[in-house]
Amino acid sequence: MTDMSTLLALLDTFDDLPQACDLRERTYAGLGDSVVDVGCGSGRAVGELAARGVRAIGTDLDPAMIEVAVERWPAGEFHVADAIALPLDDGSVTGYRADKILHALPEPERAVLEARRVLAANGRAVLVGQDWDTLVIDSDDPELTRTLVHTRADRMPSPRVARRYRNLLLDNGFTDVTVEVHTIVRTDAAVLPMLANVGGEGAWLDEQQVRAAEDRLFVAVPIFVAAGTRAD
Ligand SMILES: C[S@@+](CC[C@H](N)C(=O)[O-])C[C@H]1O[C@@H](n2cnc3c(N)ncnc32)[C@H](O)[C@@H]1O
Repeated sequence: MTDMSTLLALLDTFDDLPQACDLRERTYAGLGDSVVDVGCGSGRAVGELAARGVRAIGTDLDPAMIEVAVERWPAGEFHVADAIALPLDDGSVTGYRADKILHALPEPERAVLEARRVLAANGRAVLVGQDWDTLVIDSDDPELTRTLVHTRADRMPSPRVARRYRNLLLDNGFTDVTVEVHTIVRTDAAVLPMLANVGGEGAWLDEQQVRAAEDRLFVAVPIFVAAGTRAD
């Protein structure tokens, strides 16, 4: 389990990347004028949506994350809540986002059903995240790399949920479903803490540090973005 301050630092580094900013921007399209961002973490998407004049509501299970979000983004509205039990009335929002969270849920379909409940007619849901089995890391020890990636994935409740986003939406009351994959490429030393978080240590991580010093790091993270409209 990644502790909250480590997770926050990893998210801040990732979410600052120009590629991540562009991708986030794409996920805001079509969400309308009232949006709930579920598993909002430190609240960046909520703050960015509020700055566009959207009524933006962030929810997260971790009270410490919500404390950070409230401090960073005063224009947002934040609640501590589980993704499967949102503190919102039926049909009360026009848009729903779940960014890098469904892998943390043992039953992600329950969150998608909750999205359907809180969305108004024709409301749009956007699911964003990586497939934890398909993290690409160049290494002189590809077998150990594969083991590290899969071991890290196996510690999550739903590591491969991103490849199921389309079917999750179709099976739980959504239509007009679209899917895109955007690969974020990292070659900078700032990715090293993420590699340590994947479980890299000892000689394996030393090699990655040498690669960073010699500008030979290569990490690719395909990010899946699926969207669907609430079916009547
Ligand atoms: C990897 S972070 C992503 C945060 C943010 N969405 C982002 O893209 O930067 C996942 C977040 O989901 C939250 N989370 C985990 N399980 C949850 C649940 N059952 N309900 C709501 N939030 C949850 C965690 O506390 C964490 O803040």
